Amino acid sequence: MTFRRLETADAKGKRALVRVDFNVPMQDGRVSDDTRLRAALPTVEFLRKAGAKVILLAHFDRPKGKRVPSMSLRPVVAPLSELLGAPVAFCDDCLGDTAALAIAPLAEGGVLLLENTRFHAGEESNDPALARQMAALADFYVNDAFSAAHRAHASTEGVAHLIPAYAGKAMEAELDALDAALGNPRRPVLGIVGGSKVSSKIDLLKNLVTKLDKLAIGGGMANTFLHAQGWEVGASYCEKDLADTAREIIRLAGKHKCELLLPIDTIVAEKLDARAPAFVRGLGEIDDDERILDAGPETIARLTRAMDESNTLIWNGPLGVFETPPFDHGTVAAARHAAARAKNGKLTAVAGGGDTVAALNHAGVAGDFTFVSTAGGAFLEWMEGKPLPGVEALETTT
Ligand code: 3PG
Repeated sequence: MTFRRLETADAKGKRALVRVDFNVPMQDGRVSDDTRLRAALPTVEFLRKAGAKVILLAHFDRPKGKRVPSMSLRPVVAPLSELLGAPVAFCDDCLGDTAALAIAPLAEGGVLLLENTRFHAGEESNDPALARQMAALADFYVNDAFSAAHRAHASTEGVAHLIPAYAGKAMEAELDALDAALGNPRRPVLGIVGGSKVSSKIDLLKNLVTKLDKLAIGGGMANTFLHAQGWEVGASYCEKDLADTAREIIRLAGKHKCELLLPIDTIVAEKLDARAPAFVRGLGEIDDDERILDAGPETIARLTRAMDESNTLIWNGPLGVFETPPFDHGTVAAARHAAARAKNGKLTAVAGGGDTVAALNHAGVAGDFTFVSTAGGAFLEWMEGKPLPGVEALETTT
């Protein structure tokens, strides 16, 4: 797809309405993780240098169309200003006269953060009147919030049709990485999908088997696949009612010539406890009271060989209960192998969604992957092959 890039914007002296994702973790009214603030810096800095008046638009939490004081974006102002090394003004509404009055005195390069878009009911219903009011505040619109792009809201979708719309730097990096992983990848492409529930990833698995050359399934969801193939999984987490779905995914993979890599051995223990005795068990060797908590050594060895034979890797979800060592071993070993190959330029390694970022950070290798998406729901919906309204609204034929 093509979209307008910031370099082509006539920004000098103009009002830029920039949709960012400042839905950040907060503790006691303070930002406790500023990853998403940092992600917005390249776009804000680019626009400031270009002489634009930067008006930031964002949601926070889910106030459901009401003004909820504890869900104000005001606590973002101080840390953002510190990161930027420049003052950031705040306006306690995101539209109307209040916002217009706050924008009027902005100098070229000035930055203003508007209050939570979700304080207005029309935001989530994508009310055209609300989108028009937002558009009236600016000369052009920039969407830098990939992680909110699966929402068709007034500030992510509606407004993009009303004034010239551009992709911000973080959005651009995300779209380029996703295209390299699944849109237009260097083949062979290997996928890893882990995590506990098949039920939350049915669409994702069904889409991936039509696109990938190989797909490794790990984590608790692999138990459901093993069960579906007739293996005993003892006391392991297993969605037995999804056995038919698992068999359908196996059939679909065969039809699309996607080689499925299901576990060939496991690490088991009777309890999820770091001190519980743990054993390697082959398939068919798992006792009734044992739980599968990690991938076994043969499974990991086969997976790292598959990485060596691939040019692209897309990864979502851990391979075991990585939060409780030693059951992090499989995830850490696989992550380190992928990261080393990515660092050498041999593998385009893209990861994202939910626990994946935490697992790669735990392995100490997130920085060595080609790209790690911090988007949760948007990354998953993209992996499911669903259109993302916030991205589609940026699409242009010019
Ligand atoms: C996120 O944190 O994943 C995005 O900001 C979207 O938030 P939402 O799930 O409340 O729409």
